[in-house]
Amino acid sequence: MTFTSDTKSIVVGGTSGIGKAVVNAVRERAGTVVAVSRSTGLDVSDDAAVAAYFDNQGPVDHVIFTAGSFAPGGAVAELTIDDAKQAFDVKFWGSIATAKAAAKYIKPGGTITLTSGFLARRTVPGTYVKTAMNAAIEATTKILAKELAPIRVNVVSPGLTDTDAYAGMDQPARTSMLDRAAATLPAGKVGSAGDLAQGYLFAIDNPFVTGAVIDIDGGALIN
Ligand SMILES: NC(=O)c1ccc[n+]([C@@H]2O[C@H](COP(=O)([O-])OP(=O)(O)OC[C@H]3O[C@@H](n4cnc5c(N)ncnc54)[C@H](OP(=O)(O)O)[C@@H]3O)[C@@H](O)[C@H]2O)c1
Repeated sequence: MTFTSDTKSIVVGGTSGIGKAVVNAVRERAGTVVAVSRSTGLDVSDDAAVAAYFDNQGPVDHVIFTAGSFAPGGAVAELTIDDAKQAFDVKFWGSIATAKAAAKYIKPGGTITLTSGFLARRTVPGTYVKTAMNAAIEATTKILAKELAPIRVNVVSPGLTDTDAYAGMDQPARTSMLDRAAATLPAGKVGSAGDLAQGYLFAIDNPFVTGAVIDIDGGALIN
């Protein structure tokens, strides 16, 4: 896909981590890119606000959704359903609200790229909210790719990536968690936000890719 001075991209969740790296990568190309999140005034769990946001933005070429890294951990029997629902409200329903609202305005040749996570297809006790949410996003991406064609719709599935999503951990615990993961992953490293950004650019650039789940996980799913 060629970027021209008229190309407009919107990164929902583009103020931090992977989304911010996508914004920086797209910014090196022609056209404009907008980063949006709660800190710029949009909470994606409010679907009316998402619809109004895209109504206000008008025609757009590429929409990337990376918002909402938080999901509570815990066994199905222990977690409250309210806590699980809150995570779904942001990442799952936010993705759907964004795709639905943006689709009306995507220009010919345009794309939507969502985000899941390697736990979508990994069975790890205590992570069911992430597994369910990310699996639901991957399944719905394929439906969207058919329903919204010729808009191309894809999903990038990150593995462990060092971003502000882990800013709540104290530094020694964060470093040791990342080092342990790097030592066990076939790629020998955890992801950087820049590693992940390349996946979104691939989904945007390759005109033959739609309905795809793009795994960028250091080999987590073959481990
Ligand atoms: N990092 C990893 O290891 C990893 C692994 C697997 C999957 N992923 C997935 O990759 C995506 C990006 O993760 P990340 O590590 O880049 O996270 P991050 O650094 O925490 O960034 C999350 C972004 O989402 C925005 N956001 C959160 N709640 C929002 C809301 N209600 N409405 C609008 N925006 C909201 C945040 O901005 P505001 O606070 O301003 O709203 C921020 O820009 C997430 O879907 C995450 O699940 C990450």
